[in-house]
Amino acid sequence: MSEAAAKPRLKQIAAYDAGALTLAGPRVTLRRPEPGDAPRVAALMNDFDVVKNLSRAPWPYEPQDAADWLAHIAAPTTARGDYPFAVVTGEGLVGVVGISTNPQNPEGVELGYWFGRPYWGQGYATEAARLALEFAFHDLDLQKIDAGHFADNAASGRVLQKLGFAYTEDAPRFSKARNCEVACRMMILPRGRFAEGGANQEGMRHGG
Ligand SMILES: CC(C)(COP(=O)(O)OP(=O)(O)OC[C@H]1O[C@@H](n2cnc3c(N)ncnc32)[C@H](O)[C@@H]1OP(=O)(O)O)[C@@H](O)C(=O)NCCC(=O)NCCS
Repeated sequence: MSEAAAKPRLKQIAAYDAGALTLAGPRVTLRRPEPGDAPRVAALMNDFDVVKNLSRAPWPYEPQDAADWLAHIAAPTTARGDYPFAVVTGEGLVGVVGISTNPQNPEGVELGYWFGRPYWGQGYATEAARLALEFAFHDLDLQKIDAGHFADNAASGRVLQKLGFAYTEDAPRFSKARNCEVACRMMILPRGRFAEGGANQEGMRHGG
């Protein structure tokens, strides 16, 4: 990468670290989560049907869990390599999307997301994930992003499909909330495929 091309990217990452970066889509805005998000995160995550689909969230999900997570992600991202975003609409924080490492996939960098139940089925996950993927490919300069969804979570599989992810393999993953291994479908999105707009532009119908 040329120095000229690297500078705007580094500027975006520095802005993220400073809590000053916002990524705006037609209906949602992404920003760095902040300690004041704790009550909202705790309220929306107090739902087993949200938490059971995540690998690392505990159940029951207590207010302290939200405070602990927000404190953890307040660490400098350059050291940790995780870039979580609060997804905000006119109703406030509606979910979280992030680019992160996962100990269950030490070689990869993953897309992850969750949304509060009142906000499902409105295309928010697809729109927010597209913004996070743009950041990952353009600003973090990643060549590919992995994602895994539990086999019984078809809605997330559909989101990944709409984004252009392709299935790679089944790889059981431990779910902290379920306290057991769960069948998990691993997916991959190479940068070139995202640049072409992904395999399936149907998701764009939610954009207007
Ligand atoms: C999965 C989740 C993120 C989806 O969020 P969302 O904002 O509703 O997603 P979108 O509206 O962008 O897209 C959902 C798609 O799944 C489809 N879908 C919903 N339920 C489905 C089901 N049971 N089976 C198959 N497809 C389903 C929707 O019809 C939509 O596809 P379409 O646009 O072709 O109609 C949300 O339900 C959630 O947060 N669940 C709990 C946490 C979670 O599962 N996180 C992901 C972990 S891998």
